[in-house]
Amino acid sequence: MMMGYYTNYICSFPIRHLILLFLITLTALQVANGDAQKDFYIVFMRDHLILNEEADVQQKHVDLLSSLKGSETDGRESLVYSYTKSFNAFAAKLSEDEVGKLSSMGDVVSVIKNGYHKLHTTKSWEFIGLPPTAKRNLQVESNIIVGLFDTGVTPQSESFKDDGLGPPPAKWKGTCDHFANFSGCNNKLIGARYFKLDNVPDPEDILSPIDVNGHGTHTSSTLAGSLVPDASLYGLAKGTARGAVPSARVVMYKVCWTNSGCADMDILAAFDAAIADGVDIISMSIGGLSGNYTNDSISVGSFYAMRKGIVTVASAGNDGPNLGGVTNHAPWVLTVAASGIDREFGSKVVLGNGQIISGVGVNTFEPKQKSYPITSGMDVAKNSKSRNSSSLCIEGSMDPKKVKGKIVYCKLAEWGADSVIKDLGGIGTIIESDMFLDTAQIFMAPATMVPSRTGKRITDYINSTRSSTAVIYRSQEVKTEAPFIASFSSRGPNPGSQHLLKPDIAAPGIDILASYTPLKSLTGLNGDTLYSDFTLMSGTSMSCPHVSGAAAYVKSFHPSWSPAAIKSAIMTTATPMSSKRDREAEFAYGAGQVNPTKALSPGLIYDMDDFSYIQFLCHEGYNDSSLASLIGQESINCSKLLPANGEDAINYPTVQLSLKSKQEPTTGIFRRVVTNVGPAQAIYNATIKAPKGVVIKVKPTSLSFSRVSQKRSFKVVVKANPMSSEVLMVSGSLTWKSPGHTVRSPIVIFNPMARH
Ligand SMILES: *[C@@H]1O[C@H](CO)[C@@H](O)[C@H](O)[C@H]1NC(C)=O
Ligand SMILES: *[C@@H]1O[C@H](CO)[C@@H](O)[C@H](O)[C@H]1NC(C)=O
Ligand SMILES: *[C@@H]1O[C@H](CO)[C@@H](O)[C@H](O)[C@H]1NC(C)=O
Ligand SMILES: *[C@@H]1O[C@H](CO)[C@@H](O)[C@H](O)[C@H]1NC(C)=O
Ligand SMILES: *[C@@H]1O[C@H](CO)[C@@H](O)[C@H](O)[C@H]1NC(C)=O
Ligand SMILES: *[C@@H]1O[C@H](CO)[C@@H](O)[C@H](O)[C@H]1NC(C)=O
Ligand SMILES: *[C@@H]1O[C@H](CO)[C@@H](O)[C@H](O)[C@H]1NC(C)=O
Ligand SMILES: *[C@@H]1O[C@H](CO)[C@@H](O)[C@H](O)[C@H]1NC(C)=O
Repeated sequence: MMMGYYTNYICSFPIRHLILLFLITLTALQVANGDAQKDFYIVFMRDHLILNEEADVQQKHVDLLSSLKGSETDGRESLVYSYTKSFNAFAAKLSEDEVGKLSSMGDVVSVIKNGYHKLHTTKSWEFIGLPPTAKRNLQVESNIIVGLFDTGVTPQSESFKDDGLGPPPAKWKGTCDHFANFSGCNNKLIGARYFKLDNVPDPEDILSPIDVNGHGTHTSSTLAGSLVPDASLYGLAKGTARGAVPSARVVMYKVCWTNSGCADMDILAAFDAAIADGVDIISMSIGGLSGNYTNDSISVGSFYAMRKGIVTVASAGNDGPNLGGVTNHAPWVLTVAASGIDREFGSKVVLGNGQIISGVGVNTFEPKQKSYPITSGMDVAKNSKSRNSSSLCIEGSMDPKKVKGKIVYCKLAEWGADSVIKDLGGIGTIIESDMFLDTAQIFMAPATMVPSRTGKRITDYINSTRSSTAVIYRSQEVKTEAPFIASFSSRGPNPGSQHLLKPDIAAPGIDILASYTPLKSLTGLNGDTLYSDFTLMSGTSMSCPHVSGAAAYVKSFHPSWSPAAIKSAIMTTATPMSSKRDREAEFAYGAGQVNPTKALSPGLIYDMDDFSYIQFLCHEGYNDSSLASLIGQESINCSKLLPANGEDAINYPTVQLSLKSKQEPTTGIFRRVVTNVGPAQAIYNATIKAPKGVVIKVKPTSLSFSRVSQKRSFKVVVKANPMSSEVLMVSGSLTWKSPGHTVRSPIVIFNPMARH
């Protein structure tokens, strides 16, 4: 699910534009049957019960509900699901009144309301420096299990062939049953389950882990797909498709459904199962909901996963280029932005006067004639009243007689103008848009997209003659400058905390080729007859599995590293990106572009345990009772914890200082501890880059290690002058360098008083 549609206090993009991105193929916003789901709640219990037998715990849930409802039958009926493996909670259908009563009952630590989230290659791995020849630790890699929470999977896809793989590793405790329309698991796809606890029928989906959407097949094959030579989309983007860790095992937890999206209670059920099943990495290309770390299912579930040593990697969201839309921004989650690789897909358009114009998009159709008549949408209106709509090629606004046999030029309103024109007997569509030109849309009929500047040349030409003609050619790959951050990728600042830079990292998420489902046409649009085993998709949904893959790759060399250590290794070795190309700088790309091979050997890591995160949340003002859903205790007394340390109270691999005054300089002291994971004897010296108006000092400036796992502390003092309200942020960096290693942390100074 794409994240962040719920952060609508910042996001002002019309949803219809977002529909342009494949991510959004779940039409989930207006969930049907509102009444039925208004009443689902997730009730977190004190976790001591979990030490008991599963059946006992479930009986406790029934007992609690029975005492609330007044009868065992009603209690049993209202219980939707018991989470008993990895944390102690249950989902139930309740009235607001009952929620009030429950909240004050013993053993209940918190109650959160169920909500619905949305969904938010060949080439891409080489581009970030993980060629097929990269060194691999195959023995351990084949013991790595990656779990995806998504729309399901296509088991017969070539990406999930299990050639050369032995039986699942012994730690695997999960299942793969027989399901409708699902051919079953093998030694590559070792597990598949689905959760649909609301029980609301979805006629456009199948109650089975089968993927009717294509999203889950795409993300899982990007992460860990086996090698598939000669993969392409109708000859485009041709190459060998593969995941980052082709020997790792894949498990699909289907939690996202065509009509309803991805429910909190299903997401939590997937966490409960995946943690107990023995997965090593959880990858979720799903949207987050609120800025609150204690009541969002992804934040809460990933906290439980982190406590069991599992890294959760999640997409940052597709709410860019607006600011502040980044989601899944909990400090224990690795939050991924989307970047472009050095290839685009473009089509040539030749006008009757000989002018050649280039458009963007994937158009797999070769023209049958040298030219066709071209007209403006406005000129083929049904009547004078429909001119505005027909200029946008909106269904029902055009006269089929005037469209037949022609190419129509219109402005972008909704995804699918190509389908509307084809349906009316038109030959093709040229769409004008100044947004999302960095992402190639796939067209189901001849079409391309041009910016308004180019569009003007086309309309001028149409107006200049009575017999205007044009032709749209098949798309070709075009080399571009990269990396850069996708326009749609959600930006910081982090709405969840002013002390935490998000997103963390960037990875390829534009026009990524990976496996697809045979159950849906390429666009899913009316009249589309194109099907393919592989397709191109764009979104932070596609960048997320690249980083999940990098995390699995790191884990295959360092199986004992904590989730924070793996995160740190990936972030401090990222390739820095440039604010010249991306104005929002770290708010767009975090630490930079992921570099999996460098992440194997970071030299130093910023490590943390679950207690460190609790300390951070206490420092953020979360109080005792609201932390209960994370730790499964009635309360934790924040003031009893060690005094929180420094400006941000967290040992994070990046630094963010928020200005506190318009008049006075702001000073922040950041305390950090690094652990030596490189050579036993090493000396690291600090290199500081400070932006104008900011003084950054580090103490000490040299760290000397004599053994592996040795820790060293240092502090960073950042003093920043007030900034004009025109400036949102500036950034510098601290880099620890030894002869063999470079450990880089961006330092961001954020101006919350900025106008944006
Ligand atoms: C979570 O908390 C935030 C802020 O306290 C609130 O806005 C949001 O509605 C809550 N969400 C749920 C699902 O309770
Ligand atoms: C799923 O299986 C049922 C029963 O075998 C069949 O009728 C249906 O066509 C299948 N659906 C798809 C999408 O293959
Ligand atoms: C068409 O759009 C123009 C400019 O946006 C507006 O003034 C006009 O009222 C619209 N006409 C109709 C029929 O909607
Ligand atoms: C083309 O001509 C039509 C009227 O024939 C006019 O409404 C339109 O604005 C013209 N377009 C351009 C780009 O000049
Ligand atoms: C915890 O925070 C909530 C809201 O922020 C407040 O209503 C409550 O009194 C606080 N509890 C304690 C023990 O401070
Ligand atoms: C987060 O949400 C929980 C539950 O809605 C609430 O008790 C708590 O006060 C919120 N915390 C913050 C910092 O908003
Ligand atoms: C939390 O700990 C502090 C310091 O030990 C103590 O004064 C306070 O009473 C405790 N609060 C609760 C609710 O137990
Ligand atoms: C680190 O600094 C020390 C003292 O300034 C210097 O002797 C040493 O050569 C430096 N090492 C590196 C790798 O720059």
